[in-house]
Amino acid sequence: MSADGTHQVDAELGTERIDPERYTSKEALKAELEHVFGRAWLMACPLAYLRSPGDAYPIQIGQEPIVIVHSDDGEIRAFYNVCRHRGRQIVTRPRNIKSLFCWFHGFEWNLNGSVKNIPDREDFGNYTNDEDLVLPSIQCEIWGGFAWINMDPEAPPLKEFLGEVLPEFERYKLEEYDLVEETIVEWDCNWKIGADAFQEGYHGPITHPQLQFVLEDSPDMQIDLFELHNRGIYIMGAPCKRLSDDERREANPILRAIAESEGVNPDDYVGKLDEMRLAIQEARRANLSARGCDVSKLTDDQMTDDHHYFIFPNITVNTFADKFSVFRYMPDPLDPAKMVFWVQQFERRGPNEEPAPLPEITYGKGREFKFDNEVYNQDANNVPWVQQGVYSKSFKGMLFNHQERRLRHFYHVLDQYLDGRR
Ligand code: FES
Ligand SMILES: [Fe+2]
Repeated sequence: MSADGTHQVDAELGTERIDPERYTSKEALKAELEHVFGRAWLMACPLAYLRSPGDAYPIQIGQEPIVIVHSDDGEIRAFYNVCRHRGRQIVTRPRNIKSLFCWFHGFEWNLNGSVKNIPDREDFGNYTNDEDLVLPSIQCEIWGGFAWINMDPEAPPLKEFLGEVLPEFERYKLEEYDLVEETIVEWDCNWKIGADAFQEGYHGPITHPQLQFVLEDSPDMQIDLFELHNRGIYIMGAPCKRLSDDERREANPILRAIAESEGVNPDDYVGKLDEMRLAIQEARRANLSARGCDVSKLTDDQMTDDHHYFIFPNITVNTFADKFSVFRYMPDPLDPAKMVFWVQQFERRGPNEEPAPLPEITYGKGREFKFDNEVYNQDANNVPWVQQGVYSKSFKGMLFNHQERRLRHFYHVLDQYLDGRR
C-alpha cells in the first residue's frame, strides 16, 4: 500500500482493461478452445462415475466429445468419443458398457480402444487398416478422487500442472469425499464472466449481504497467486469485523445452522461469537475424528474456513474439512455468450461408512432456475446482466482493483496460453 493509502495495483499483472470483445467474439472463443482448453489439464469427472470395469463417462469440451473408460485391465483411459466410420458420438451418457459400440452401423472397440469388430469389414477394401481405425486416446490421469484429461499429447504431467495447489489439496484428502449433489445450469454469459464471478470477494457485501454475518469479507483477506492457479481464504464461522458490535451479537440463521450441525448451541455464545467460531472448530474436528476421518493435517482454521481455489482454466474448489464443492465454467462450443455452470457437492466419508450412491443430476436454465443455495442464485442473477453490458459501445472493458487481483492473474495466465508462451 502506498503513503496515500491506495494499492499499487499489481502492475506486473497488467493494468489494462480487459477488452469487451473477449466475451462476445467467436474468434476469441475458438482461440480459447484450441489453445487453452485444448492444452490445459481439465477435471473430467469424479471417480464415482468410474468405479467398475466397463464404466464409461462422456464429456464434451468445446467441440470435442471425449469419453473416459474404466478398461478391463483396471486402467482408466480417455478417448475421443467419435466413431472412426462417419463420426457418430459413441457413448452418449454415463453407463456401464461391455465394449465401445457405435449404434449407427456397429463399429466396435475394446475398452482399451483397439478395434473389436467392423461389420462387413471386407467392403472397405484395403483402403483402411486397424491403425487408422483405432480410437485415438488422450492423456488421462487420476488424482484427488477425479479423472483429469488433457488433449495435448505434449502436456506435462498433471502433478506439475497443479503445482503449489497439490500439497494443499493433499492435506484435505479429497479422494475421501463422496459426490452427493450435482447441478448443471445453462447461463447466458461467456464462460469467463462465470469464472470471474467466483474469483473475488469484492462483490460479497452487495451481492451476498447475508454472508457478512458468517464470514470475514474484509479487503485484506488472504489471497495467493500461484503459477497458474490462485486461492482466496474466507475466514468463516463468525460475523465480519466490519459490522458493529450490535450486529455481531447474535448468530444469523446461516451461522446458527453451522454451529448446530456440530452440536454447538449458538444461544451460549450471544455477544461472543468469535468464541463460538473456536468452539465450532473444536467440535468439527472431534466429530470428524470420531467418524475415523483423518483431519490431522488440517489446521484449526481449516475446520471452519473456506479455502477457495481457482484451478486454471475453469474450476473453483471450495474446500472445507467436512465437505467441498466444485464449480465448473464450461464454454459453449459455438456461442461466446453461453456457458454451463456445473456444480458438484461432495461430503466427507468415514472409513467405515458406505459410499454415497450417485446423485440424480438436476438440470436448469438461466436465472429462472432456483438453486437450494441462495448464494448461487445471487451470483446467477448478476452474470447475464454483465453479458448484456459488454456489448455496449459505451463499455471500455473490465476494470479490476486490488481485491480483484485473482482475476488479473487469471487473464495473465490465459494470455500466456493464448499467445503460445505456455
Ligand atoms: S458412424 Fe459409427 S458405425 Fe457408422
Ligand atoms: Fe458470489
